[in-house]
Amino acid sequence: MPDKRLAGQAAWISGGASGMGEAVAELFAQEGARVAVADIQKERGQQLAARIAKAGGEACFSYCDVTQEAQVQTSVDQAATRFGSLQILVNCAGVVHVGPLHEYSEADWDLLMGVNVKSIFFSLKHALPHLRRGRRSYVVNIGSVGSLISQGLTPAYIASKHAVLGLSRSIALDYAADGLRCNCICPGITDTPMLRYHLSTTPDPEATLAARLRRVPMGVAMYPPDIARAALYFSCEDSSGITGTSLVVDGGYLAAAEWETATPTQFMKDPR
Ligand SMILES: NC(=O)c1ccc[n+]([C@@H]2O[C@H](COP(=O)([O-])OP(=O)(O)OC[C@H]3O[C@@H](n4cnc5c(N)ncnc54)[C@H](O)[C@@H]3O)[C@@H](O)[C@H]2O)c1
Repeated sequence: MPDKRLAGQAAWISGGASGMGEAVAELFAQEGARVAVADIQKERGQQLAARIAKAGGEACFSYCDVTQEAQVQTSVDQAATRFGSLQILVNCAGVVHVGPLHEYSEADWDLLMGVNVKSIFFSLKHALPHLRRGRRSYVVNIGSVGSLISQGLTPAYIASKHAVLGLSRSIALDYAADGLRCNCICPGITDTPMLRYHLSTTPDPEATLAARLRRVPMGVAMYPPDIARAALYFSCEDSSGITGTSLVVDGGYLAAAEWETATPTQFMKDPR
């Protein structure tokens, strides 16, 4: 068994310039994968690729708006050409829109669904010819606890994340015969720029975060590497036999629907 779990593998990661996607790119590179980071944040993406290369890994960045099919196709094809193969697809790109449904414009709705859901259709479609070349391939989609339950004032986001879970199950069925396994990760409150943006739409972001964390048994927000480790599990044979399922990574939040404590447990006070 190789020391590194992803030795010889190549991965394409959407939304790879920030937050969870960035953590996935770094962890996968440490585990021996060649990683292609696809994002609209050019500077961050290029810096990440340079950081990975400096640490001895192999990475490239491509500017890719995942709502644009031609850009997704080009990005995926370039990654496969550069690395000589492609075995892993991790769909992390996502956006959130906060507000009641009746205040949405059609463009707000379409953008959110485009980034969070349609992008998975595009990446799967164009990665498939490459993924099919190997005996095994892996698709990991980032859903949310919002794939399973709802929350206030994010109707399109909740609809999109329910769709991500459904789509993951469907992909798992239709491509199992190709040696492809597809699974969905459902993160809870995770400290990323998206979470900070979401909190900033409330009058007192820190108070909002503290109130939310009182409902999390572990008492802390997840960190992007927590999600990356789950993605790693689904992207190698450690998870052999598992497809069409979801893995909740939420510090116990969903297990605690009716639970709230006045004294946070702060299970893991220090960054891991
Ligand atoms: N942070 C949380 O609490 C949380 C919880 C559950 C699920 N999620 C999901 O996790 C995933 C990653 O989000 P994050 O929290 O790391 O946030 P993030 O904002 O740090 O990362 C999202 C990335 O997606 C990229 N992106 C946005 N629109 C794009 C587009 N059109 N084309 C290409 N890239 C685009 C952004 O540039 C960014 O790099 C998202 O799907 C999000 O919905 C986040």
